[in-house]
Amino acid sequence: MIDIHCHILSGLDDGSKDLNESLDLARAAVHEGIKTIIATPHHKNGRYENNKQTILQKVDELNQTLISEGIPLTILPGQEPRIYGEVLEDYEKGEILTLNNANQFLFIELPSGHVPRYTEKLLFDIQMSGLTPIIVHPERNQELIEQPDLLYQFVKKGALTQITASSIAGSFGKKIKKFSLQLIDANLTHFVSSDAHNLSKRSFKMAEAYEEIEKKYGVDYAYMFKENAELVVQGKNVYKEIPTRIKTKKILGIF
Ligand SMILES: [Fe+2]
Repeated sequence: MIDIHCHILSGLDDGSKDLNESLDLARAAVHEGIKTIIATPHHKNGRYENNKQTILQKVDELNQTLISEGIPLTILPGQEPRIYGEVLEDYEKGEILTLNNANQFLFIELPSGHVPRYTEKLLFDIQMSGLTPIIVHPERNQELIEQPDLLYQFVKKGALTQITASSIAGSFGKKIKKFSLQLIDANLTHFVSSDAHNLSKRSFKMAEAYEEIEKKYGVDYAYMFKENAELVVQGKNVYKEIPTRIKTKKILGIF
């Protein structure tokens, strides 16, 4: 199993605090059946800035330690930039890191409370520059929960999305779990990954999430999500089904 979103690198953000914690996270990942992790430190989220070079170096260091500790896990480089107007300019400057540095898939984090008005234009511009944007954890964005049609429009126009395993497992509450499952139902998401920060409150939950997905949607769905993570690592096109609209409560209320 491949986890494409994880804060396993130490001392860069609100994820792992030190090398020991990174090794504990690594052991827990292996225990869940994860063999590869794309490390995705926060960038420009108002608290943390981690540019490409910093991350590449830190990934090398952690891989060396994993080898010397005999932990069978490979770390690949990535980044989780918060949406901002100059992200493409900074990509051109070499500060922004695509997933596995393959110049194909770019994570975009929205603020938790709203969707900036320029999001659609930026997602378009990212695609025009030859990259595919992946909106991370849309299920935890308040405006998208209230207006899922916004996400439908983004996906219809070519953006991909990633939901967090612990959202499916129910760690963020019933409302977020329900919305996560609605996103899967409506073909509005393409990846499941951990966004693990630590082993206490923000752990992997990948095995649990996949168990739930297999139970509800069958093994084919679980296979598609797992395969998509592999394709991202390889920088290849991923599987996607035709997105549909999520019915909001108001519409359901008519019946
Ligand atoms: Fe994250």
